[in-house]
Amino acid sequence: MDTPLEVVILAAGLGTRLKSRKAKVLHRAGGRTLIEHVVRAALEVAPPGSIHVVVGHQAGEVQAAVEGLGVRFVLQPEQRGTGHAVRMARESLEGAGGLVLVLYGDTPLLRGETLRRLVERQRQGDAAVTIITTLLADPTGYGRILHDDRGGVRAIVEQKAASAEQVAIQEINSGIYCFRSELLWKSLDALTPNPASGEYYLTDVIEPLHAAGHALAALRLEDSRELLGINTRIDLAAVDRMFRERKLESLMLEGVTIVKPETVTVDMQARVGMDTVIEPFVQILGSTEIGEDCRIGSAAIIQDSTLAASVTVEAFSMIRTSRVDSGARIGPFARLRPDSHVETGAHVGNFVELKKTRLGPGAKAQHLAYLGDSDIGAGVNIGAGTITCNYDGEKKHRTQIGEGAFIGSNSTLVAPVEVGEGSYVGAASVITDPVPAGALALGRGRQVVKEGWVRRRRERSGELTAPAPDDKRSADVLRRSPPDPPAG
Ligand code: UD1
Ligand code: CA
Repeated sequence: MDTPLEVVILAAGLGTRLKSRKAKVLHRAGGRTLIEHVVRAALEVAPPGSIHVVVGHQAGEVQAAVEGLGVRFVLQPEQRGTGHAVRMARESLEGAGGLVLVLYGDTPLLRGETLRRLVERQRQGDAAVTIITTLLADPTGYGRILHDDRGGVRAIVEQKAASAEQVAIQEINSGIYCFRSELLWKSLDALTPNPASGEYYLTDVIEPLHAAGHALAALRLEDSRELLGINTRIDLAAVDRMFRERKLESLMLEGVTIVKPETVTVDMQARVGMDTVIEPFVQILGSTEIGEDCRIGSAAIIQDSTLAASVTVEAFSMIRTSRVDSGARIGPFARLRPDSHVETGAHVGNFVELKKTRLGPGAKAQHLAYLGDSDIGAGVNIGAGTITCNYDGEKKHRTQIGEGAFIGSNSTLVAPVEVGEGSYVGAASVITDPVPAGALALGRGRQVVKEGWVRRRRERSGELTAPAPDDKRSADVLRRSPPDPPAG
């Protein structure tokens, strides 16, 4: 049987070098918090009940970020160093025996596969600990690995305490270790504060273990990218870019065309179907799912939404927490706000906003409309400038439009209101009462025409010679100052 394995993830620090009020592990890269990435990697080698996250700074928020994954938490009330943090976890682990895998919450690119290799290596050998290391061209800021003359690890020396000669060492400590648990606890009991900082460094348990005659192993990774720790916002941007590249590469290998991928953002959880084309500067965020054969136009932003197959989203459209069925067309410059549902083959054109609205199959709202809290039947035509007045200053109300209705341009539908199937609403109507099926509703002032009115007005104002009707100058004057309508 395999030796039992427990995982400790350190996530109590603030992360001073990020210059943020928010704890470091709550910052995001690749669309997820840093801590969530690390916990997910750990879940590939251990069940959630064996994963212990050490929290301190903004403990509640850090806990909230990953408790959905079922892991356990340990509080480190004061951040007195990485060694001290692991010591805090001891109570909840003790008795488990076996191996303890220690990870830092700020190395989010780490893959589960790498952890599996580390645990395997530790299980096969007789070392007190196996440490993942790698060679970095620029090792600044990391702990350096010192070897003994038999090639084993002798010590880890932190940047602050390193001599000029040691600073030049390029092999660094990744902060990922697999310990034999009884030796880890014994070493932590004997740990003293590091003279350079006064903190209890986990890295300071290495040298005494070596001095006591234990073998200490390094698992040196060729590809150092997944070990990048985040300390500054520059690191954060670099890691974010790597996540984006990983995601886009996997989508392209699955048959998605991405034009200018260096400008496109797709979050880790998002899914995109085969033969879909993603144009430059698109952002596909959160748990969005996009079907096959879609086209997502430039600079569109789609978040937590579901698009079926063959949907077209034209440039500069925004879709949040909504559904779009197959063959529908959205945009350009359209906005679907949460809980909207655009059904099969429907069109939402430029400068059209939907909120909590169902647009039935084949229905069209092609230009300049606000449709909120509405249920719009199949085949309805919404004219340009249509507004649902869904808010009366206190409450929101619904608008219902039956199948095949025709809403003339510039109509104002004052909710709650129902427009029946197949009915017509004349352009520029204000609709406050129900419109029965098949009816024509007109709710606007009737046009008034006064023949010869212009001439009469001029005569009244004492102008003796009326201008010829094609006198351009006079016509302009009239247009600029329209006369008041006659009173009474
Ligand atoms: C650490 C290592 C260094 C290694 C590097 C790899 C030590 C002393 N140094 O340095 O050898 O090369 O990581 O990325 O371990 N934390 C706590 N409680 C504390 C202090 C820290 O939970 O009291 C957590 C932090 O939240 C963070 C992690 O431990 O997630 C690492 O701490 P950090 O300060 O970033 O260590 P580094 O200086 O990067
Ligand atoms: Ca770090």
